[in-house]
Amino acid sequence: MKNNLQAIILAAGKSSRFKTNHSKLLEKICGQEMILYITKLLSGFEVQTTVVVGYQREMIEAAIKNNHQENINFVHQEQQLGTGHALMCTQELWQNNHILVLNGDVPLITADCIETLYKKHISQNADISFIVAHNIDPDLSAYGRVIQEGSSIKIVEAKDDTRENSEHCCINAGIYLFKKDFLNNNINEISKSKVTGELYITDLINIACKKGFKVETVSAQVDVIRGINTLKELWAAEQIKRAEIIKNCMMNGVRFAFAQNCHVDLNSKIEAGTNIGVGVQVYGNSRIGANCKIEAFSIIDNAVIEDDVTIRSHTVIKDSTISKNSIVGPFAHVHSNTVVKENVIIGNFVEVKNSEIGDSSKAKHLTYLGDTQVGANVNIGAGTITCNYNGILKQRTIIKDNVFIGSNNSLVAPVTIGNNAFTAAGSVITENVPDYALAIARAGQINKEDYAKKLLSNNKQDIVFAVRDEVAIEDLVNSEELDTLNAK
Ligand code: UD1
Ligand code: CA
Repeated sequence: MKNNLQAIILAAGKSSRFKTNHSKLLEKICGQEMILYITKLLSGFEVQTTVVVGYQREMIEAAIKNNHQENINFVHQEQQLGTGHALMCTQELWQNNHILVLNGDVPLITADCIETLYKKHISQNADISFIVAHNIDPDLSAYGRVIQEGSSIKIVEAKDDTRENSEHCCINAGIYLFKKDFLNNNINEISKSKVTGELYITDLINIACKKGFKVETVSAQVDVIRGINTLKELWAAEQIKRAEIIKNCMMNGVRFAFAQNCHVDLNSKIEAGTNIGVGVQVYGNSRIGANCKIEAFSIIDNAVIEDDVTIRSHTVIKDSTISKNSIVGPFAHVHSNTVVKENVIIGNFVEVKNSEIGDSSKAKHLTYLGDTQVGANVNIGAGTITCNYNGILKQRTIIKDNVFIGSNNSLVAPVTIGNNAFTAAGSVITENVPDYALAIARAGQINKEDYAKKLLSNNKQDIVFAVRDEVAIEDLVNSEELDTLNAK
């Protein structure tokens, strides 16, 4: 947009208040790293962007490079000596007339806010313009306090503020627009804080004011400018973002049974006419089509759910596709690049991993299908397991069209069941089954005729009943008698 503008993002800080030993800027808010909220916002403006990195800089640079086509450059702040020092580190790169500086930890800031700041800065011909908000929340007392007396304005950091009862005031958002000339002439005048020893970027406002430069402010809603310094503040910001995403879904025709305990990530999409049950979580790049029903406590993670699908409660779908009109769950787990085609039923306690399930096939109860190709119109009996792992290799099972797999089968991979074949219940299938065959692979049943009568004729009825009642036989009979009985 503005070719007289360039942007600098401050992202080198240690995140010590997070207490996690990770840079807060890589923490995700609704599935997107905090730093990317700012970099993506700036991409929209098409301004040259520099990111100041230090703590865990390799990871921050990688996250940005993985998500941006355009060239964003990086400056290394070796020692984190404060926000003013971070800006100093970029001086060689100042080329444009106006320099927009943003803290990296203000993820909820909007394009509108930046636009308003820019317009006021240009129209007022200001040397510095910055965003402020009115703070009514004592929990937000750690911000820099903007103190305006007549025409003079200064920022006092919370840690350095010695006034009493000073938390209810105007706060600094950490987003500034500077004239390049002002910065070049004054940046070296920032003095160290007497309290923390850091060089504060906010000192530039105090310097400007003392020297009579023009300083302007623009007001924003406090929620939009929330800076994230602690996990508690991260939680609060994510609450706001999540509510915004879910409200957008509602405006697009998605019904939530109990919206306040659902989660939808920023990059997930849900289409009109879909119902989302209590506690449903939708993560990553998920796509849920129109007129679906996602029942309570299901997790849809980086998955595609096509139109008119029902996902019954407590189901997990991850990195997989469920095609039109299929029904999955309750308590099902479909994952690892599985493709469930149209009109399929995957029932309760069924796990499907890295498999394809053809049109109109069914696996309705207590089944594991791993590394399996299932054709169309196949019925998989209850309790069937594909034995896809021999301890060393994962191998594939192929079940062709119109097959009937009896209940409680073990299909030992690699194995192929031909078109229209049947397998008997309880079979352990280790050999391929030809088209149209019935495979029976189980021990034949033996009935010992009149076995019970023989026991009774030995006048050992009390033993028979003891066995049935699971009383220890040893308590009732001596070992010789037991041997004779066992021999029969
Ligand atoms: C800062 C402001 C404060 C403002 C608040 C708004 C200062 C001195 N204070 O405080 O007035 O109300 O933001 O959220 O600027 N960083 C570096 N290098 C450093 C130190 C920090 O790059 O040496 C980066 C951090 O990674 C972070 C940003 O600068 O992204 C702000 O630093 P942070 O420590 O969060 O400043 P606050 O104490 O929040
Ligand atoms: Ca901060």
